[in-house]
Amino acid sequence: MIKLLKSPAKIVTVDTDGLNYKRGKDSSKINVLYDHSIVIENNIIKDLIPNSKVGDHTFEKVIDLSGLTILPGLVECHTHTAFAGSRSNEFLMRLKGATYEEIAESGGGIISTVKAVRQSSFEELVRIIKPKINLFISQGVTTLEIKSGYGLSYYDEIKILQVINYFKQTLPINIIPTFLGAHTFPPEYKNDHKKYLKIIIDELLPFIIKNGLAEYVDAFCEKGAFSSEEVDKIFSKAKKLGYKLRLHTEQFNNVGGLDVALKHNSLSVDHLEVISENDITKLSGSDTVAVLLPGVSFFLNYQYAPARKLIDNDIIVALSTDFNPGSSNIPDLHLIMSLAALKMGMSAEEIISGVTINSAKALNMNHEIGSIEIGKHADFAVFDVNDYEDIIYNIGQNLNMMTIKNGEIVYKRNMEN
Ligand code: NIG
Ligand code: FE
Repeated sequence: MIKLLKSPAKIVTVDTDGLNYKRGKDSSKINVLYDHSIVIENNIIKDLIPNSKVGDHTFEKVIDLSGLTILPGLVECHTHTAFAGSRSNEFLMRLKGATYEEIAESGGGIISTVKAVRQSSFEELVRIIKPKINLFISQGVTTLEIKSGYGLSYYDEIKILQVINYFKQTLPINIIPTFLGAHTFPPEYKNDHKKYLKIIIDELLPFIIKNGLAEYVDAFCEKGAFSSEEVDKIFSKAKKLGYKLRLHTEQFNNVGGLDVALKHNSLSVDHLEVISENDITKLSGSDTVAVLLPGVSFFLNYQYAPARKLIDNDIIVALSTDFNPGSSNIPDLHLIMSLAALKMGMSAEEIISGVTINSAKALNMNHEIGSIEIGKHADFAVFDVNDYEDIIYNIGQNLNMMTIKNGEIVYKRNMEN
């Protein structure tokens, strides 16, 4: 089937000239095409043609996008959307002065969500999580990564991955499951790290990849969670089994996570609120993407990652919500874009690179998605804005009109509302 996305006011291509990422100052060039239409064949971007040439072809379907601005489908590369329960009590405790780390140490935090998830059946989890995914789709997200990490037992980690895989099979966007069994130590192994590591390394890692439940492994390298030595062991085995790696690191303390991530060619290092000058130098020029999560800093009233320094040091920077019930209860990628501008000093162009091609690179999917280039998947977010800056400026308004995945409209805003 040959389709035409006809004459949008602007096409923000985020063109990379085939490089498929935007490093450092390149991230401020996103390229806008005027007076063009997009030809789609078999779910793939076939051509970008001047509007004057549209009459030379015939199309089986034409979608009129007059007056609208089209961007690559947004890529949300770091979420913990697979959770149950609420942590509003912790939110209130923090307002009274308790810190995220204190709450975690006293048995709340991740473990309180683990309790809620363990008590929920597959069906209950599906019912709770689905509307959250739909929120992302309505924002123009066409690829959504979702981590496990609230089961922390053999049975419950697999249950969560099965739920995520159910969405992968039934929802019309890319859902990317990531195994985060190394999120924190569950209460039963709090004093026996070796035993829990053994479950991850000898049981879960082989089972999950063999059964196609996840191709990505993540861990939380932090005081009170996993040490860099423990992450090293997990990553060594995961790499042997063929997993792609990601790492939560340098959120509250620097415990050597970045070194382990770089040693194993991790696709990304995520958080980096407390990254040191020395570690910025190590990351400079590397292929590992810095995934920044300003929603966490906002939600926890905490310091922001040094986005400007990272970009000025030739690092590939991506942005994500980190949507989770404890540190970023914010399933809103547009708000993250606004926070990146207001709180981290990123330009509109750097932000758009960060939620498209660079987040695709954090998933190693940047050759298929993340920019409007010939040969890539026909994934788009269509905004009712005159300029792409308006997405960032209009805080709290979802101006995405239409989400298109593989050339199919998967979300359309009701024009009457
Ligand atoms: O990315 N840092 C670790 N994990 C999550 C928080 C998870 C939670 O608090 O439930 C994060 O911030
Ligand atoms: Fe996270």
